[in-house]
Amino acid sequence: MQPPDAVAGWDDDQNAELYARFTRDYPFYARTSRDLAARASLPEAQLVVDLCGGTGITAAIMLETLPPGARIVSIDAAKAMQAAGRRVHPDPRISWIVARAEDTALHIREPADAVVCNSAIWKTNTPAVFAAVKQALRPGGRFVFNIGGSFAGLPPAHSEPRSGPSLNELIIAVAAAEYGYPPTPHPRPPAPLTADIVRAQLGAAGFSVLDTETVTHIGTLQEKRAWLSIPVFARPPGQFTYEQRMEILERAYAQSDVSQPVTTAWLVVTAEA
Ligand SMILES: C[S@@+](CC[C@H](N)C(=O)[O-])C[C@H]1O[C@@H](n2cnc3c(N)ncnc32)[C@H](O)[C@@H]1O
Repeated sequence: MQPPDAVAGWDDDQNAELYARFTRDYPFYARTSRDLAARASLPEAQLVVDLCGGTGITAAIMLETLPPGARIVSIDAAKAMQAAGRRVHPDPRISWIVARAEDTALHIREPADAVVCNSAIWKTNTPAVFAAVKQALRPGGRFVFNIGGSFAGLPPAHSEPRSGPSLNELIIAVAAAEYGYPPTPHPRPPAPLTADIVRAQLGAAGFSVLDTETVTHIGTLQEKRAWLSIPVFARPPGQFTYEQRMEILERAYAQSDVSQPVTTAWLVVTAEA
């Protein structure tokens, strides 16, 4: 089953522009992309697929490692994300295809050396995507992706005990005190995509799993505030306008301890076709 936020919200020009700006101004997605690139055996690769490639930060990072003459195909279901990506990364070595990750095999005609997917795989129908990626890769080619900790069922990552409430907790508190939140019941979150489930699904698609590792990245509260300003990530859910969410965010941020680091956990998976 496809999680409800799969593409909804992504095919929107304002969202794409703010997302692209975030990837330029803050290291969050560049850092996770660099981690994937390091695991994908890129120095020998000639054709790499960036799955759910968004506005192209992962493709841009991979170009730093790829040999001259190598090409990247960026596949994403949201036209607006790709349009912003073409503007921000106008590199002729990247080609852009608006398509669902589940349909990858229909679009990649020569065997790819590697497929990477940064911060998106849990939004897709993973058994279908894994089967399609297996078809697209050459034998021995790498498939590397990460899963956000909460979507992988990992415990919350804190580098040290927090001295006060998190920014997310403050957002809820401000929304409750000043905006009558919660206006609607929360939908139940999708079941986590754990390491065991991923291993089983990759095995069923014909992959050998080389590694599943939990990594943490440490960022700043300022970066988290900028991330929560991207419309698709803005909180809280429910019947708020974007402007209301930004007011709530600013009030919550003003009450935060900005010296607190923000630690994000990821499950990183490396598989071989
Ligand atoms: C958090 S963004 C990640 C973008 C990029 N990988 C990065 O690191 O910046 C998630 C992306 O996944 C895309 N997406 C979600 N479900 C998809 C699907 N089933 N097929 C293709 N793209 C999908 C969205 O359109 C969005 O651009």
